[in-house]
Amino acid sequence: MSAQESLAPNGREAVPTITIDGQTVAFTPGETIYEVARRIGAWIPTLCYDPRLEPFGGCRLCMVSVEGMAGPVASCTFQAADGMVVHTATAEMESLRRILLEMVASENPRIQVDPLRGYASQELADLLARYRVAPHQRLAGAHSGRSRLDDPNPFILRDYDLCISCYRCVRVCAEQEGDYAISVAHRGFRTQITVEFDGFLRDSACTFCGQCVQTCPTGALADRKALRFALEEKGARSA
Ligand code: SF4
Ligand code: FES
Repeated sequence: MSAQESLAPNGREAVPTITIDGQTVAFTPGETIYEVARRIGAWIPTLCYDPRLEPFGGCRLCMVSVEGMAGPVASCTFQAADGMVVHTATAEMESLRRILLEMVASENPRIQVDPLRGYASQELADLLARYRVAPHQRLAGAHSGRSRLDDPNPFILRDYDLCISCYRCVRVCAEQEGDYAISVAHRGFRTQITVEFDGFLRDSACTFCGQCVQTCPTGALADRKALRFALEEKGARSA
């Protein structure tokens, strides 16, 4: 586009716009479709997204339909473009999201967890309820990740039976804390969230900041102090 073409008729710089579900809005170049959609109150489901982290594009749950594009795009990584027309909740998108959630649920033996385990969120459980998906409803999948309930630290429970490999814990540890204590070993159904030498958190670079617990969308990582406190409260009430 020439400098002349980028000017509006009034001589000012033309503001790029995008149309989302019929609403045309201005955006700042560099914003993703998801960021613009959130700004105008459009709801798009996500699992691997955390606004504090770099876009990852792993779960594909946030896919939307863009007119003129052959297939759906992940809205959390796809940048808005001038004149783009987006539909966030077509029947096709909703059906694809439901299938994706069924696949996630097929891997997880337990979906309902104590709210204190997720502490800040019950994202997966909420999405499964919203899309009426139950574990092993239609699909049965292999399970990745082996729990490390033997980790003796008093702060963080590591129950990877509930892990969906969204890597949010890995990314928050690196991007927000700069600790790089949590990592990933292997791939596919052998994927394992781990720490160095597959050891315990206390022997790693972990500072027990709790960011991984806070971002985990499934409760695979849990706050042991909160769980202990809740158990003590329960015991005191029934005594
Ligand atoms: S432990 Fe939680 S945050 Fe980490 S990859 Fe698994 S589901 Fe995601
Ligand atoms: S939230 Fe966009 S790909 Fe996971």
